[in-house]
Amino acid sequence: MSPDSPRHTSEHPQRLRRTAALRALVRETRLHVEDLILPLFVEEGGGVTEISSMPGVFRRSVAESAAYAEQAAELGIRAVILFGIPNDKDASGSGSWAEDGIVQQATRSIRSKCPDLVVIADTCLCEYTDHGHCGILRDDHSIDVGSTLDVLARVAVSQAESGADIVAPSGMMDGMVAAIREALDGSGFGEIPIMSYAVKYASAFYGPFRDAADGAPAFGDRRSHQMDPANAREALLEARLDIEQGADFLMVKPALAYLDIVRSLRDSFPSMPLVAYSVSGEYAMLKAAAQAGWLDEQAAVMESLLGMKRAGADLVITYHAEEVAQWLQKTTP
Ligand code: PBG
Repeated sequence: MSPDSPRHTSEHPQRLRRTAALRALVRETRLHVEDLILPLFVEEGGGVTEISSMPGVFRRSVAESAAYAEQAAELGIRAVILFGIPNDKDASGSGSWAEDGIVQQATRSIRSKCPDLVVIADTCLCEYTDHGHCGILRDDHSIDVGSTLDVLARVAVSQAESGADIVAPSGMMDGMVAAIREALDGSGFGEIPIMSYAVKYASAFYGPFRDAADGAPAFGDRRSHQMDPANAREALLEARLDIEQGADFLMVKPALAYLDIVRSLRDSFPSMPLVAYSVSGEYAMLKAAAQAGWLDEQAAVMESLLGMKRAGADLVITYHAEEVAQWLQKTTP
């Protein structure tokens, strides 16, 4: 026996892995159905359409979205986040603040069917602008941040008026949280929290979402406002600015390739609720590998989500939310 063999040391972690019961007893991180936020794509017109690059994820009409939200609530899911796909788009994204806009209609409908479900409205313009950018553009195609902030503030107020519990600005415009906070407060919605996509990277993993929401930029890209994937310290600046402006939640997006950022925000801002957004490309990768028979979908999805929680996320936005809720029902006594 060499002196450093396990027999001669008190440290012997395998003792606690011998049985399933022991492993469950010392487990540090758990995933609960309450940790999940389910994204919904709401479109005008009737029916349900599967998104080809996201098998198992659908665009739904207002009525179908409300029925699906009800089903999710029955599974124990506490929150949905709504993305609207309007029929008509224009240069200023006016569908995003219309009283009968698609997200506003869906919010009212879900609110009346499932009063206890938390409805989060994604607050951005890219699904509503004919050019697919997240802001109002100048003639040279650069974003006019000032007028974009005015529009985003208007969108948030209109979402609150329709009954949204939380607004979630995702456009990565400097000053957007302050502009939205001021507008909400000034319109009698001081109690509505802001879930800021504080740290959102310019990521290739949004590809399938842009199919789903029909929101790919018609020209150019989003690198002038979304973060450079190479930067980690800058994430702390983005998060701090959003907290100073009144954000109630922080978000890191995407999740899997950015778990170091999740950990760093968790450590640097311990009192803030932290959300990880496991984006469309992460869903598509796991789904495609599972469909090819290359990965055990349930095991791989659960391991990924657990990783996000272990990194420090309190909540995870995932397109797998409904399936995960079903798996958790089967595995939890
Ligand atoms: C923009 C928005 C995007 C996503 C959520 N909100 C797309 C983008 O920034 O290009 C992507 C989500 C996903 O990929 O799942 N409002």
